[in-house]
Amino acid sequence: MIEVSHLSKHYGDFVAVNDLSFRLVPGDILGFLGPNGAGKSTTMKMLTGFLRPTSGDISIWGSDVWTDTLAAQSHIGYLPEGAPAYEEMTPLGFLNFIAEARGLSGPDRDDAVSKASATMSLESVLNQKIETLSKGFKRRVGMAQAILHDPDVLILDEPTDGLDPNQKHEVREMIKGLSKEKIVIVSTHILEEVTAVCNRVMVLAGGAIVSDGAPEDLLTLSRHHGAVTLELIEITEELTSAFQSLDGVDEVEREDNRLTLMPVSDVTDLFSRVMSFIREKDVTVTAAFVEQGRLDDVFRTLTEGDAQ
Ligand SMILES: Nc1ncnc2c1ncn2[C@@H]1O[C@H](COP(=O)(O)OP(=O)(O)OP(=O)(O)O)[C@@H](O)[C@H]1O
Ligand SMILES: [Mg+2]
Repeated sequence: MIEVSHLSKHYGDFVAVNDLSFRLVPGDILGFLGPNGAGKSTTMKMLTGFLRPTSGDISIWGSDVWTDTLAAQSHIGYLPEGAPAYEEMTPLGFLNFIAEARGLSGPDRDDAVSKASATMSLESVLNQKIETLSKGFKRRVGMAQAILHDPDVLILDEPTDGLDPNQKHEVREMIKGLSKEKIVIVSTHILEEVTAVCNRVMVLAGGAIVSDGAPEDLLTLSRHHGAVTLELIEITEELTSAFQSLDGVDEVEREDNRLTLMPVSDVTDLFSRVMSFIREKDVTVTAAFVEQGRLDDVFRTLTEGDAQ
């Protein structure tokens, strides 16, 4: 379990993290979202014991991160921002070194290294110096060291940044496939990643929590939540204004060959109203669906003006 209580970090007069409190239990996969400078990496550095908070407490599986650091850290796997590694080492040498630092030796060490290397598809580069690896492979080495000791808590700062689509998919599947006894905290700028892997999402802006809940709940804040989007072969001015005057439609947005009809706030049956209209007017529609909401809308609304 992770308990964070009134966590703050100040740099002089500047408040990078402002009074965060939250609690995570096994099975939680928390996504940290927020614009550049929101305080995501700073929070992660404090959670992992790398940065001393100005105030507040963090407990990981019952150990205080600042007074009982090693005990707390033994539960944590951490991929820092940018996945730093010892560039002159090979991935194999680096992973062996980390495994030993984690207290593994002999066959246990070898097993842990080969398992983590296989998970991150590192076999082909194990003996090549890290400094000569591509950005994506360096990131994979960072991921491999984070999962090496099968930690209870994984803290991953932008794990999929710079990975190719196949590896992005692999990393997401790996996170989703983790046992329900683990806790994962992952920061990302890829909004779809949050709905793809997380069961809880926290939006930070200016160092503070501006939203905290399930991804589905966040989507209900979108102005597109419950909107009906139609794909049409031809969109005329006349058709657009006919949809605009349809009972229950608040606003119509056009994007290429799509029209999105936003419902008036208390209307819940917009889809069937639109379908009846289409049949009645014999409009040719190639696709029609109800929108769950768009995370980019919500993100902008919650964080606008907060990028540093
Ligand atoms: N050592 C430092 N001294 C002064 N300010 C700092 C220091 N470290 C971080 N900051 C500031 O704290 C704020 C939060 O930074 P942080 O790296 O946590 O943001 P982030 O949410 O991870 O952003 P990004 O999405 O760009 O990674 C930023 O304004 C940053 O400039
Ligand atoms: Mg960051």
